[in-house]
Amino acid sequence: MGFFSKDIKTMDDLFVHTLRDVYYAENRILKALPSMIEKATDPQLKAGFENHLKETEGHVKRLLEVFQLHGVEAKPVTCPAIDGIIKEAEEVSGEVADKEVLDAALAAAAQAVEHYEITRYGTLIAWANQLGRSDCARVLQRTLEEEKKADALLSKVAMSKLNMRAAS
Ligand SMILES: [Fe+2]
Ligand SMILES: [Fe+2]
Repeated sequence: MGFFSKDIKTMDDLFVHTLRDVYYAENRILKALPSMIEKATDPQLKAGFENHLKETEGHVKRLLEVFQLHGVEAKPVTCPAIDGIIKEAEEVSGEVADKEVLDAALAAAAQAVEHYEITRYGTLIAWANQLGRSDCARVLQRTLEEEKKADALLSKVAMSKLNMRAAS
């Protein structure tokens, strides 16, 4: 279903569509993270990915909770944006031989994923509140906070060593 699908007529339709888009994205991320964990050599980066894999399992569960609260079927709609971000990450990381440069590429790719999630959850929370679903907004807010923390940690790891070492 395209973004401007005929099936989207109301704010509620748009909210549900975007919920399904993020549901697809989180599941796609769940599949991509194990290979990123495997490729990462920096222990802090590897541990960060491992921790975020566990958090991501929780994000999927929270989305299921929101679908239930809102009384709609939990089903994914293809999200070409996350497919593109992950495809690019796999292409770039497949080309890098130097381990430190590879870590920098993985951290950058992961940040692109986090920023995507942050923008989607921010929108979903605003729309949930607008639709009078503060119960859904509260659940989504907990995930947003974890995405922001994951992003901040990636920035810290990247700034502190990866980019410096890769440049030397
Ligand atoms: Fe997530
Ligand atoms: Fe995330």
